[in-house]
Order: sequence, then C-alpha cells, then structure tokens
Amino acid sequence: MRFQGRVAIITGGGGAMGSAQGRLFASEGGAVCLADLDPAKAKKVADEISAKGGRSLACRLDVRSSSEWAAAVNAAESEFGPVNILCNNAGANFRVSFDEQTEEMWDMIVGTILTGSFLGIKAVVPSMRKAGGGVIINMGSLASVRPGAGSPGYGAGKAGLVGLTRSAAASYAKDNIRCVLVSPGHVDTPFIRSDNPYSPNDWSTSIDNPDNYKRRLANTPLGHLLNADDIAKAFAFVASEDAAMVTGSNLIVDGGAAI
Ligand SMILES: NC(=O)c1ccc[n+]([C@@H]2O[C@H](COP(=O)([O-])OP(=O)(O)OC[C@H]3O[C@@H](n4cnc5c(N)ncnc54)[C@H](O)[C@@H]3O)[C@@H](O)[C@H]2O)c1
Repeated sequence: MRFQGRVAIITGGGGAMGSAQGRLFASEGGAVCLADLDPAKAKKVADEISAKGGRSLACRLDVRSSSEWAAAVNAAESEFGPVNILCNNAGANFRVSFDEQTEEMWDMIVGTILTGSFLGIKAVVPSMRKAGGGVIINMGSLASVRPGAGSPGYGAGKAGLVGLTRSAAASYAKDNIRCVLVSPGHVDTPFIRSDNPYSPNDWSTSIDNPDNYKRRLANTPLGHLLNADDIAKAFAFVASEDAAMVTGSNLIVDGGAAI
C-alpha cells in the first residue's frame, strides 16, 4: 500500500499507460484523478477502479489549457484533498518528415507534450505545497534520448522534457517536490497501433503492419515490446518513497532500445 493517503492526477488517464498507472496506484491505496481529452475513456477507467473498491475520479482535461488545468486540480482537491503525485502522460505525434510537418502539427505536438507538462506543473505545485511535497513524473520517449530524423515536433518536445524536468526538479526541491522523466521504448499501445486524432497512424506507421512491429522488436534487445504495465511499475517506483532521493533524472525503461 505504497500510495495510501496520496492523491494523483494522471493525464491521458483514459489511455493505455495512464489507465495502467491509475489501476496500479489505486490498488496500492492511492486516490486517482484520471484526466483526459476524452472524458468517456477516463470515466470508463474510473468506474472500473471504483467497482474494485478503489478511490477514483474522472475529468475532462485538455492539457494545453491552463483554465482546464485549474478546474482539474480543483476537482481532485475537492474530492480527495491536496494533490501529491502528477503523471504527465498526454502526448501527440504526427509521424511525418520535417518537410511535411505543418505549423499546426508542430503546435499540437509541442503544445501537448511540452506546454501541457509545463502548465500541469504550474497548476499542481500550489496543491503539492499544501500537501507538504510531491512527485511530478513526465512522460519521455526514446526521442528524449536520441531525437533524430522523423517528426521534428516530437523530437523537440520529448527532448525539451529533459530540460523541463531538470528545471522543475531544481526549482521545487526546496518544497520537497521531486520531478523525474520516465522514457519508455516501444510500448504496445494505441499511440503506435491505432489511428487517433492526436496520434494518427496508417499502414505505413501502425504496428498492425508486421513490418513495423518487427522493426520495433528488432530494436528492443530484451526481445519483446513493452506493455503499459511495465511503464506503470516504473512510474510507481518513481512516485514511491523508494525513490526519495531521485530527482531531475531520466529513467529509461526500454528493454535496451536506447543502447
Ligand atoms: N506507445 C509508445 O510506444 C510510447 C513510447 C514512448 C512514449 N510514449 C508516450 O506515451 C504517451 C501516450 O500514452 P499511450 O502510449 O498510453 O497512448 P494512448 O493513445 O493509449 O493514450 C494517450 C491518451 O492521451 C490523451 N490525450 C491526447 N491529447 C490530450 C490532451 N491534449 N489533453 C489530455 N489528454 C490527451 C488521449 O485521449 C489518450 O487517452 C505519449 O506521451 C507518448 O509520447 C508512448
């Protein structure tokens, strides 16, 4: 029961990795607010957690909006008390080349990944101060370690999180608030499998295409793609007292893909 008495806001809480974090934190006593652009997806997860006796709440949140952040923090605080864990999962990507990436695509990717995490940190820190401290976990990627050709917004956003994480860690250590980046490798989720408005995939990019699946597998030395629970366990470690002296760092959880 590592999260007894603790309150978490989880963005992308209706998605694969966010919902896995919600289930795990709630199963260990935490109260979780699942916040997502798609409130129906978040509600489904919250209902499932509540049905098992967990403490959960769903709310709509577009992480690019500071007013929606204020409402989400207010909802979580009113229901459960001050927030002391923030998981910034929400992300976007358009898998096109530099030449093909439009300003609108760039704005959506960087707005969701980088500005969204920045706004989230600003929105929860006052609540974390009331709680006496907290942990902020940003969602990185292999692109946080080795951004390269491919979607420029994604590389810039995920590499930018390295700096944002260190900035928040250095700024708020005095408030007993830690900030850590967790960078997954290839995780079998709708983000790389399905055709979502925030992360479109077609046959040329989806892991439904065996060639794409095999390419990602070949790039993972431990021999299988990760799943959402692998990453939820890393988030839980970082959020727990076992990681009490971990801050500002980038925890790579990738089956060796970044080697
Ligand atoms: N799947 C992978 O291989 C992989 C690898 C590394 C990092 N990531 C990162 O993980 C995150 C995606 O999580 P997932 O793989 O569980 O995908 P997912 O598609 O299952 O979940 C993403 C969730 O984010 C929500 N979302 C999108 N835009 C939002 C916004 N503006 N505000 C609030 N919520 C929003 C979606 O509605 C969805 O529920 C992204 O940050 C992505 O960069 C994924």
